[in-house]
Amino acid sequence: MTPILELESARLVMRQWQDDDLKEFAALCADPQVMRYFPAPLSRLESAALIGRIRGHFAEYGYGLWALERKDTGAFIGMTGLLNVNFDADFAPAVEIGWRLARRHWGLGFASEAAWTSLRCAFAQLGLQEVVSFTSRDNLASQKVMQAIGMRADPAGDFEHPRLAPGDPLRPHVLYRIDRAQWQATLRG
Ligand SMILES: CC(C)(COP(=O)(O)OP(=O)(O)OC[C@H]1O[C@@H](n2cnc3c(N)ncnc32)[C@H](O)[C@@H]1OP(=O)(O)O)[C@@H](O)C(=O)NCCC(=O)NCCS
Repeated sequence: MTPILELESARLVMRQWQDDDLKEFAALCADPQVMRYFPAPLSRLESAALIGRIRGHFAEYGYGLWALERKDTGAFIGMTGLLNVNFDADFAPAVEIGWRLARRHWGLGFASEAAWTSLRCAFAQLGLQEVVSFTSRDNLASQKVMQAIGMRADPAGDFEHPRLAPGDPLRPHVLYRIDRAQWQATLRG
C-alpha cells in the first residue's frame, strides 16, 4: 500500500515529522495541562522517542499520527491521526484515532478538523471498516472531539486501561466507535 505521508484540510497541513518539530513537541508534552489525562508529562528524551515510534508506525503501516502545521502561520501545533491499538483489549485489533495539541491552539476547532480529515483517510483511502477512540472517563475535551466527528459512545466497551495501575483515577476509559456506514451517514448530514 502507498504510504499516506500527507493530508490537507482547510487550515492545516498534516505532514511527516521534521527534526525541528521536537522543540515544540517536547514543550507541549512537558505541559502538565496538556498531559493531565496521561500518567505524566514527558521529558525531552521521551518526546523524541515518541516521535521515533510515530515514524516507525508510518514506515510499517503507511499511516500514523501526522504532525499538524497551520497554513496561516506555518506553526507546528501538535498531532492527530490513526494508530493501531497496541495493547490487549476486547475491541482489538483495531485502528484508533487520537490527538494532542499545544494549549495555545486549543478551542479553535483544529483538533476536530484534523480528526475529520484523518477519518476520511481511514475510510476513503485506507478502506477500514471501523475506527475506535478512547480516553480517560474525565477527559471531556477529547470526548467532544469524538462526538464532533460523528463517533458514538459504546458504554458496553468502556474498560480499565491495562497500562495503568488499579486504583489510578485515569484508569477507567470510555470507548467510542464509528464504522464506515455511520461515517457515510455523517457525510449525507
Ligand atoms: C482534546 C484536544 C485535542 C481538543 O482540542 P481543541 O482544539 O480544544 O478541540 P476543538 O477546538 O476541535 O474542539 C472540539 C470540541 O471540544 C470542546 N472542548 C474543548 N475543550 C473542552 C473542555 N476542556 N471541556 C469540554 N469541552 C471542550 C470544544 O468546545 C468543541 O466543542 P463544540 O464542537 O461543541 O464546539 C485538546 O484539548 C488536547 O490536546 N488535550 C490534551 C491531549 C489529550 O487529552 N488528548 C486526547 C487523549 S485520548
